Amino acid sequence: MPDLIHIVYMSFSSKALSEAELNGFLSSIRRKNQDQDITGLLLYNDEAFIQVIEGRKGIIDHVFKLISQDARHSNIVKLLEEPIDKRAFPDWSMGFRKLDHTNNTKIVGYSDFMHQDKSRFKATECAESVRHLLNSFKRHT
Ligand SMILES: Cc1cc2nc3c(=O)[nH]c(=O)nc-3n(C[C@H](O)[C@H](O)[C@H](O)COP(=O)(O)O)c2cc1C
Repeated sequence: MPDLIHIVYMSFSSKALSEAELNGFLSSIRRKNQDQDITGLLLYNDEAFIQVIEGRKGIIDHVFKLISQDARHSNIVKLLEEPIDKRAFPDWSMGFRKLDHTNNTKIVGYSDFMHQDKSRFKATECAESVRHLLNSFKRHT
């Protein structure tokens, strides 16, 4: 039984990425993740990212360290890190959803994240909302 974990974090994009930049960025992430058996989901709304990465503990810890140092985003807040029995996104080397005001209303928990008062954001208080948000995404994809 591999020592699987997932990490969920939120961060703020250093700039709004164009469609072309996003595509390039995603294909390089997916290639790297395939090589390392990392799966997950990335959400983006021009301003903020929420990402789930899942895989072997040693690998996920290492990649999260790299991600944390990446200048393309800042204010990275780890929301969850815990062992998992199985992957939530086994078929996605990095599922991606660009969110905007037209498609987010169905996703319960989304607005809590993307529209929260950033100055009052408390990571420790939102583990449940994160699980809720991710479950909601799985149901809608
Ligand atoms: C929002 C965001 C999400 C990222 N997600 C991943 C990821 O899932 N896997 C990955 O290997 N790199 C990811 N990266 C890129 C890493 O931060 C880093 O650039 C990369 O791992 C370095 O790889 P290299 O040493 O091969 O250039 C992400 C970067 C950002 C800004």
